[in-house]
Amino acid sequence: MRIAIYPGSFDPLTRGHLDVIERAARQYDKVIIGVGINGSKKPFMPAEFRLRAIVASTVHIANVETESFEGLLIHFARDKGAKVIVRGLRATSDFDYEFQIAMANRRLSPDLETIFLMTKWEHSFLSSSVVREVALLGGDFSSFVPEATHSIISEFLSLPRIN
Ligand code: PNS
Repeated sequence: MRIAIYPGSFDPLTRGHLDVIERAARQYDKVIIGVGINGSKKPFMPAEFRLRAIVASTVHIANVETESFEGLLIHFARDKGAKVIVRGLRATSDFDYEFQIAMANRRLSPDLETIFLMTKWEHSFLSSSVVREVALLGGDFSSFVPEATHSIISEFLSLPRIN
């Protein structure tokens, strides 16, 4: 079985992410979306909401699973029996960061291949940080995220907040 991991913070999932997930799911038998939990970084949405948004937005794709992981991505991939990491690429500005991570992961785990999927043109400007900014400042972010993710972000934003 050809298993791929699609890792990210997904804080939150965007339409660009979903496009990469749908395309990766056509290439591999199983795609595991790995939601990275980084204890030192305070996310916009807690992992529980990020995972719920991904699960709700990918119900139409049969061979996709969603899990969170802590620690190194290569260890998560090894534990899941994955031989491939999928990452999306938008513009050249993504390249330096992606190159660095891919090279580090290859050094750590030479058999694990990183594959890049180019994002669709219409999503090339999209990023989780743009969604966060628009959502937090009360703008309409519905065209940036899948419908199910929009509902979950709105639910999260309606919760009482302690600053
Ligand atoms: O898309 P993002 O938010 O930049 O995702 C980053 C992520 C989660 C893929 C990356 O930070 C990661 O792989 N974290 C796990 C820790 C790790 O393996 N680091 C080594 C790579 S240099």
